[in-house]
Amino acid sequence: MTMKFLVLHGPNLNLLGKREPAIYGSQTLADIDVSLEKLSAELGCELSFFQSNSEGKIIDAIQEAADGCHGILINPAAYTHTSIAIRDALSAVGLPCVEVHLSNIHRRETFRHISMVAPVAIGQICGFGRDSYLLGLHALFNHVKNK
Ligand code: DQA
Repeated sequence: MTMKFLVLHGPNLNLLGKREPAIYGSQTLADIDVSLEKLSAELGCELSFFQSNSEGKIIDAIQEAADGCHGILINPAAYTHTSIAIRDALSAVGLPCVEVHLSNIHRRETFRHISMVAPVAIGQICGFGRDSYLLGLHALFNHVKNK
């Protein structure tokens, strides 16, 4: 059976490429998704992608993933630090989830050091730019495969 994963990008990540490139790099979200597609072809899994600036839409996408997805790769962006609702949705669907960030949130402002999502994730990868997503997909894939 082919494994399917949902890749979820939170608010303002649609601006990647133009948004604070010194922090987030010059790659666009489309560049990141293309790299993930390439890796998924190598691993032999399927991905679906969703970006939203709206908390409710992200929650809807998490709930919908329960139907047919084997795990979630998520960069909740600023909602990482605020959203009990996203954390509860991840916990409710119970799918394995890996949290990723382009920047190292632990080296930045103290309000970014807290993640609401981390306690319900298998793990968190941050600080490696696009590679955070690629490492995250690898880790999620191996976790589900070895379960
Ligand atoms: C981010 C880090 C968050 O603190 C920030 O709000 C983002 C992006 C990252 O990928 O580094 O929007 O999740």
